[in-house]
Amino acid sequence: MCGIVGAVAQRDVSGILLEGLRRLEYRGYDSAGMALLDARTNDIDCIKATGKVAKLEESMAQRPFEGRIGIAHTRWATHGEPSERNAHPHLSAGRIALVHNGIIENYQALRQELVAQGYVFSSETDTEAVVHLIHQACSTQGLTLLDAVKQTVKKLHGAYGLCVISTNEPDKIVVARSGSPLVIGVGIGENFIASDALALGQVTDRFMYLEEGDIAELTLKEVKIWNADKRVQRVVTHITSEIAEVEKGEYGHFMLKEIHEQAQVIRNTLNGRISDTHVLEEAFGVKSRAIFDKVQQVQIVACGTSYHAGMITKYWLENIAKLSSQIDIASDYRYRNIIVQPGTLFVTISQSGETADTLAALRYAKESGAYVGHLAICNVATSSLVRESDFCLLTTAGREIGVASTKAFTTQLCALLLLTLVLARRTGMSDETEQKHVRDLNALSGLVSRTLLLDKQIKLVAKSLMDKHHALFLGRGVQYPVAKEGALKLKEISYIHAEAYPAGELKHGPLALVDEKMPVIAVAPNDELLGKLKGNLAEVSARGGKLFVFADESAGFENDRNCKVVNVPSVPDILSPIIYTIPLQLLAYHVAIFKGTDVDHPRNLAKSVTVE
Ligand code: M6R
Repeated sequence: MCGIVGAVAQRDVSGILLEGLRRLEYRGYDSAGMALLDARTNDIDCIKATGKVAKLEESMAQRPFEGRIGIAHTRWATHGEPSERNAHPHLSAGRIALVHNGIIENYQALRQELVAQGYVFSSETDTEAVVHLIHQACSTQGLTLLDAVKQTVKKLHGAYGLCVISTNEPDKIVVARSGSPLVIGVGIGENFIASDALALGQVTDRFMYLEEGDIAELTLKEVKIWNADKRVQRVVTHITSEIAEVEKGEYGHFMLKEIHEQAQVIRNTLNGRISDTHVLEEAFGVKSRAIFDKVQQVQIVACGTSYHAGMITKYWLENIAKLSSQIDIASDYRYRNIIVQPGTLFVTISQSGETADTLAALRYAKESGAYVGHLAICNVATSSLVRESDFCLLTTAGREIGVASTKAFTTQLCALLLLTLVLARRTGMSDETEQKHVRDLNALSGLVSRTLLLDKQIKLVAKSLMDKHHALFLGRGVQYPVAKEGALKLKEISYIHAEAYPAGELKHGPLALVDEKMPVIAVAPNDELLGKLKGNLAEVSARGGKLFVFADESAGFENDRNCKVVNVPSVPDILSPIIYTIPLQLLAYHVAIFKGTDVDHPRNLAKSVTVE
């Protein structure tokens, strides 16, 4: 997704902006650009390139390109193809330059008005209308850059994080946030702006997160912030740890590194939150106890992989906490006429905490006033989702760079198991049962390490899948969402069309797809549904389908010409969704490597989806 970096300093900022863009590359983008204010000529100089930031760097090296104030951007195309013309920054009359994250929904109407007034558009983007509106306010009404931005944003419908520079006021950057995150990096005699603190880790460890509706002016010495035309202060937060984690180390790809980090980050997520025998409920924060006491059911909302974590939680809530729950895709939930039963807890799950649909769903839920509380399960402490929720349980997965979510998912599941257990206490779970589950959780990290040892064996299986065009994933009960997650991983990074089905549903349609060309990947722990699953897999074998079964060592599957078995360590039922996800992550990774795709930056995808 798009990324923004900006700087006002007493030194050339081109290198700082370039490094900032590099640090945002993991988010996914298709073009990049930078605009600098040249103090000698008081002109704005702009360079853009399609493709990677390295291409922008090459173009910058072709000629002198320096400035002490600048803004830069990585673009993920929404309106108009990826091209230099559509890449940001966008300029108006060569005097004002702007970068934008988000989507302006009413851009066509604005564009028509501006064209009628003589503005010539050089791109197909929604963004260009904004820079012309600011130019119009400055040139025809004589407004300052700050007032022009304040006036312009009132005309915008949609979401934006904006940064603007002008040759009329060559000492400042004006920025505005609504629906798309922006963070100010505070320096000494210099100040910075970015869509993510990570972009500025090279220049500062002090950050001010802008809130919804904030407009700010950054100069060398000062940062001034307004909200609804009133001056406001935002706290300065020190962040170093999350910025330090952007190296791949011994691994060829961030995704592989992140898969292998799971034993450690799962331990980190559970540390301090469970004793030897109990869940330490205080981990959910001071407000949580009073809210949990009122809970009679749970509404979960999330997108993508986080949605799969929610699906698994539904099974846990029913089986362990005996609570009814609903799970919705955030982009759907936000447009439904929701009917909320009394005593419902609203839970969002998000790795980034900036997913536009999940945030909008939270805001919609809060507006309804119908829930007993709003809990976020999230990996980013400073994210909008965490800040806007009543309380949160952070997953401590560390920054996840690979676009395909891996360690964020398994740590979400750990956090959601803790939630299940604290709710189950209130619905009659015995102390002995809690002790048993907590003992299992304490053993989880070791089981993950053992499962990761299957890597080499899975690589061999992956070879047989690299030439396939389709794959079917099957699981029963709580393993169905695990199969869905496996299918999502495979399609995201290898571009093989993969579908997941509850195995019992096979004969109601998808069995028609099965022949000797169709690989069928099954998730088979030794649980109460194993016998049923075996029956479903026999239906596949009978039609010549090729089976790849990830099975409990004791499940009794045998290798033969049409069935390849990978034995997974025996695990307690509550842990099986976490453990069985790991071989499927490794499978997707190795298939993608054999196919030669860009594993960490799959095509058309972004790490953090901050537009609707
Ligand atoms: O940051 P979030 O967890 O809210 O992101 C939700 C999805 O966009 C995300 O899980 C996406 O599906 C991943 N690419 C999955 O690997």
